[in-house]
Amino acid sequence: MVFTGAGISAESGIKTFRDSGGQWDEYDLNNVATPEAWERNPILVLDFYNARRKQVMKAKPNSAHKALVELEQKFNVQIITQNVDDLHERAGSKNVLHLHGEIMKAQSTADPSLVHTLQNSSLLHGDKCKNGSQLRPHIVWFGELVPNMELAYLLVENADILIVTGTSLNVYPAAGLLEYAPKKSAKYIIDPNDVSLVIEEGFTYIKKNAGNGLPELCQKLLNEK
Ligand code: OAD
Repeated sequence: MVFTGAGISAESGIKTFRDSGGQWDEYDLNNVATPEAWERNPILVLDFYNARRKQVMKAKPNSAHKALVELEQKFNVQIITQNVDDLHERAGSKNVLHLHGEIMKAQSTADPSLVHTLQNSSLLHGDKCKNGSQLRPHIVWFGELVPNMELAYLLVENADILIVTGTSLNVYPAAGLLEYAPKKSAKYIIDPNDVSLVIEEGFTYIKKNAGNGLPELCQKLLNEK
């Protein structure tokens, strides 16, 4: 089980949210990432995600994403990501569950189960689903339920090994997932910045960037198996 956040894509050139100079320094999340923001100013929200989507399309998977693909040689790897980018999929990982949505998709405002894959970076005011309702980014905004949470709990409860990387563990319910890991599972966290909370909870802390720390850890696990 690998739980990833924005930090795993930082070395691909996608900004994290809460590091200095991160996305929430530049934008007030209340203006772009809430249902209220969408009600107030959908064009601003669409512009924000169109710019993010453009960045994601330019970015390439880095050594951390690729290491998780290598790990599949000997392990049944399940990734649960808070990221809305598609870098795990483009690297070649088979099992990826997105908790906070996917930026390359749009959903109907009238029926969230109507989801379209976008072919280019722009989603515009006036772009409609087949039933004639405006499309919005397929993103779980602050204040909305996280539809994949129950499945994520089940997956974490069955983990033999848990690897966490690139997340500040600030956003719930996603951050609460770690509490569901079995006591006997081996737990690692890779982050260049201090994450004291989880060190206390039986994690081996690897104070490195994901781009170095994750390939090293994956190689170690492959050698030991
Ligand atoms: P954050 O921006 O909160 O945290 C990024 C984490 O990545 C921090 O702990 C950094 O120290 C770490 N980091 C930075 N560079 C790294 C690197 N090269 N390798 C490894 N780690 C690195 O991002 P998330 O925890 O993912 O939600 O944020 C959670 C959610 O908040 C996001 O999914 C997003 C955001 O608001 C929505 O938009 C709904």
